[in-house]
Amino acid sequence: MSSDTLWDLDSHSIGKHLVLDRYIKGWFPILSRVTRSKNLLVIDGFSGPGEYSNGYSGSPVILLDALLEHCDGYLKDVNTTFVFIEKDEARLTHLQELVSKKYEMLPTSITLKFINSSFKESIKDLFLIIKHRQKDQSPSFTLIDPFGIKDTPMHLIDAILQNDKAEVYISWMYEFINRFKGTSEFKPHLNGLFGSEAWIDCLDISDKNERREFLTGLYKNSLKKSNPEHQVVHFELMKGKRHVYSIFFVSKSSAGTNLMKEAIWKHVPEGDFRYQGDIGLELNIAVPDYSPLIDSIVNEFKGRWVTSKDIQWFVASDKTQYHKAQVKKYALKVLEEQGRIKVDPAYNRSRRYTYPDAMRLNITH
Ligand SMILES: C[S@@+](CC[C@H](N)C(=O)[O-])C[C@H]1O[C@@H](n2cnc3c(N)ncnc32)[C@H](O)[C@@H]1O
Repeated sequence: MSSDTLWDLDSHSIGKHLVLDRYIKGWFPILSRVTRSKNLLVIDGFSGPGEYSNGYSGSPVILLDALLEHCDGYLKDVNTTFVFIEKDEARLTHLQELVSKKYEMLPTSITLKFINSSFKESIKDLFLIIKHRQKDQSPSFTLIDPFGIKDTPMHLIDAILQNDKAEVYISWMYEFINRFKGTSEFKPHLNGLFGSEAWIDCLDISDKNERREFLTGLYKNSLKKSNPEHQVVHFELMKGKRHVYSIFFVSKSSAGTNLMKEAIWKHVPEGDFRYQGDIGLELNIAVPDYSPLIDSIVNEFKGRWVTSKDIQWFVASDKTQYHKAQVKKYALKVLEEQGRIKVDPAYNRSRRYTYPDAMRLNITH
């Protein structure tokens, strides 16, 4: 094994794995229960060797372990195909050996494919699978976790997302973009990454935070451009003051979007990295600020009769940084305490400060 087949997982990369693990453990049961799909497809587009030299599991193991947790239950009758793509032959071989040792007897419902090629070149194989899955509307989850920016053009991501139930989880190493933005050699790659030349405007922005906001905002818009139904959740992993990763998750489902936000909120880190959402929402503080949640609910619904469920699904979508389970306790109860909620008198609610899904309410300013 060459010395760079394995490497140490950095502390700030752990957040990327924690959120992935939490999300995917929720994704498998939700998809099989809600969509009743008989086939699931999981693509790890930059799989790596499956483990790190400092003992952490790599993404292929995180994905497989999550599925195995549910294999005897919800997923008993569901066929799942995992596609692991890795350009480096030694890393892929390491992964194959690791998987065959670690999972000696995988259930027959699981199919593993290992592709030793670049993500971009595997496109034809992927499209065959994804197109086939489009016919039966099978869900897919694609992890796109490259070292650089050369091999993840927007047109490829758009193509994957053509399937109505496709989701992607993309990590960006911001340093690559920031470092190479002024280098002519990188121009075609940045054009590919964003799907246009619009990133060039960042060269006129001298403030580094403003530049980062511009580029992440542009990337979010590019992910939405091919289909306005795409919901995009974005968060950032910082190491101290240094911005290391931007993570983008795309789904057409508010349930998926909600689950991803729940996973992010769950893993408020205590270490030297932190999550920061689009609106500067910092999660590693003792008492999170719920006033933006209240404000967005008031702005969206003030003066009209809506059900508690309508409000929860609005919050679940990518229009807020919060998730459904926070609505009743941190928004509706507060609004009712402030006397800003009228409850439908026809609804016989058993207790104050409870908001059953079907109950209608009207929020004042
Ligand atoms: C950031 S690491 C992936 C880590 C892995 N996803 C995990 O979380 O454990 C990126 C991996 O992509 C591989 N790689 C680099 N360029 C690639 C390409 N164009 N296509 C597929 N794999 C590539 C590298 O060899 C490396 O193992």
